[in-house]
Amino acid sequence: MSAPILRRLADLRAEVAGWKARGESVGVVPTMGALHDGHLSLVRAARAGCDRVIVTIFVNPKQFNSPEDLANYPRTEVEDARRLGPLGVDAVYVPEPEQIYPQGFCTTVSVAGLTDVLCGAHRPGHFDGVATVVTKLFTQTRADRAYFGEKDFQQLQVVTRLARDLDLGVEVIGCPTIREEDGLAMSSRNLLLSDRARVWAPELHRAMEEMAEGLRAGGDASALRTAAEARLLRAGFTGVDYLDLRACDDLALLERVDRPARLLAAAWLAGVRLIDNISVS
Ligand code: PAF
Repeated sequence: MSAPILRRLADLRAEVAGWKARGESVGVVPTMGALHDGHLSLVRAARAGCDRVIVTIFVNPKQFNSPEDLANYPRTEVEDARRLGPLGVDAVYVPEPEQIYPQGFCTTVSVAGLTDVLCGAHRPGHFDGVATVVTKLFTQTRADRAYFGEKDFQQLQVVTRLARDLDLGVEVIGCPTIREEDGLAMSSRNLLLSDRARVWAPELHRAMEEMAEGLRAGGDASALRTAAEARLLRAGFTGVDYLDLRACDDLALLERVDRPARLLAAAWLAGVRLIDNISVS
């Protein structure tokens, strides 16, 4: 059975009001579509934790840095609906842009500090776009819990912080990254990889695992980073935006693993920007 698709905020509100009146809890899984098994794992977590589950699909123009990136972002709505069918989703909210950004919309939600580094430094405005749309999706869906993948680790920190700072009454739940058999982290952007690039892509995860091993053995991040970057460039990657050891809580740059830490990377392969992160502690 396929889940009902709602395109208007008024319809979503009416549906949610009915659930809330009956005291049912609401979980939301915000997505930009092109759903893969990583998204489906979030839906399953929401299904297990909430009475009602909403999946949102909205390719948010405010979080893209370039018009080409926005135009190229994969859109697979029919396939997405088919994949959600068996999962018992109560509503798929696929808003038209004006349902999110009505005429005259001029508010931006900006999370300071956490967004100055990593993807925030390389994609100016990206996290303002994410924070703004996520705030809207939280208030529109009136969700009690929201499910995000650890794959976008910085995004997870940013969203957790804004939900807390703005008293949005939503509990943000991070779920583990789901990987392909060869280690590549699942991502909608993987659809943009050519067959050839897809073969090289898992090298990112392998280089990170090797670097993590060195860090766990007490090595310095800067020396290990140089070796890992060289490995990626040899494997066909054209650039590395960052390959950083960072503290889990405030994303401070670390040279050694002296507190709970994660290794985070963003690298370019055949015109596609891949990101990944793994725990090192
Ligand atoms: O992770 C994503 O797909 C997006 O950044 C999100 C959270 C749906 C906001 O547009």
